[in-house]
Amino acid sequence: MFRFDFVDANEDEKAAAAAPVHHTAAPLSSSSSPTVELDAVRLLRDARSRAPGQALDDEIPALRAAGLRACAGAHVQAGAVAPVGLATDLIPGVYEGGFKLWESALDLIEFLRERPEFLNRKHVLELGCGHALPGIFALRNGATALVLHDFNAEVLESCAALNVVLNEVDGAGSAVPPVRFFAGSWATAPLAFRDAHFDLVLASEVLYSEQSSRELAECLCTLFQPRRVGTVLVASKRYYFGVGGCVLRFREYLLGMRPQLKIDILASVDDGKSNIRDILSIEFT
Ligand SMILES: C[S@@+](CC[C@H](N)C(=O)[O-])C[C@H]1O[C@@H](n2cnc3c(N)ncnc32)[C@H](O)[C@@H]1O
Repeated sequence: MFRFDFVDANEDEKAAAAAPVHHTAAPLSSSSSPTVELDAVRLLRDARSRAPGQALDDEIPALRAAGLRACAGAHVQAGAVAPVGLATDLIPGVYEGGFKLWESALDLIEFLRERPEFLNRKHVLELGCGHALPGIFALRNGATALVLHDFNAEVLESCAALNVVLNEVDGAGSAVPPVRFFAGSWATAPLAFRDAHFDLVLASEVLYSEQSSRELAECLCTLFQPRRVGTVLVASKRYYFGVGGCVLRFREYLLGMRPQLKIDILASVDDGKSNIRDILSIEFT
C-alpha cells in the first residue's frame, strides 16, 4: 500500500459527497475555552450504556483488517473539507470536522499495523482525534496509555468514547481508565499538557487549511521540549485543494519555529482515486 517516494501532487481533488453530520442536537462548545479534561469515568459509563444498541460502520475494509469497530456515522470522508459540504463539515472556530472519520486516519492505522515498533509500551497522545481510531489501535497493540484531545467535547463524548468502548480498551472493571479525554483548542493544549510526557503523538487530517497547519505547528513546537515528546506522526493529504493546507507548508512552519526538528516522510499513499497522502514523522534532535 505504501510508496516511499515524494512526487508533486497535481491531480484533481474529488471532494466526496458530504454525508450529513450527526449528533448535533445541542449547540457545540466554543473554541475559546481552555483545554479541559473531561470526566473519563462518566464518558465511558455513558458510552457503555449506548454501546449495546449501537449500529456499527463495518463496511470499511481498513478497519476490518485492523480488527477495529467504529460507531455508526463514521463515514470515511475522502475529499477535502471544502467546498462540498462546507455548511456541515466545517464551521471555523466552532466545529472542525471531528464527527466524521477521514481517510488519512485509515492510512495511519495501516502504517502502525506495519510498524508496531512505534507502539510498544508507549504513552500516546492523539490530537484532533475525532473518532480516535489510530489512538485506539495503538492502545490495542502495545501502547500502555492514551490521551485523546479534540476541539469539541461533543465529538469526544459521541464518537471517541463510544469507539473506545466498542473496541474494548475502556478498562472496564479497572478503577483508573487507560484513556483520558481533553477538549479545547491546540492553542491551549500545551498548557494542559505542561507536565505530561508522550512517547508518541498521533494526528490525522489536521493540516486542511493554512490556519490549522500553523496552529498545530505552534502547538507541537510548544509541546516539543526534549524528553517530553518522542515522535510525532501526522497523516495528511499532501495538498488540500481549495483550502490551502499542505504538508510542505506545515513542514516550513515547524522548521521556522524549531530548525532542529527532524522531519521525514515515512510513507505515501497513492490509490489513484484521491489526493496523494503522506505519513510524516517529526522528532526533536
Ligand atoms: C478533519 S477532522 C479529522 C478527524 C480525525 N483525526 C480523522 O482523521 O478522522 C479535524 C480534527 O481536528 C480537530 N481540530 C481542528 N482544529 C483544531 C484546533 N484548532 N484545536 C483542536 N482541535 C482541532 C477537529 O475537532 C477535528 O476532530
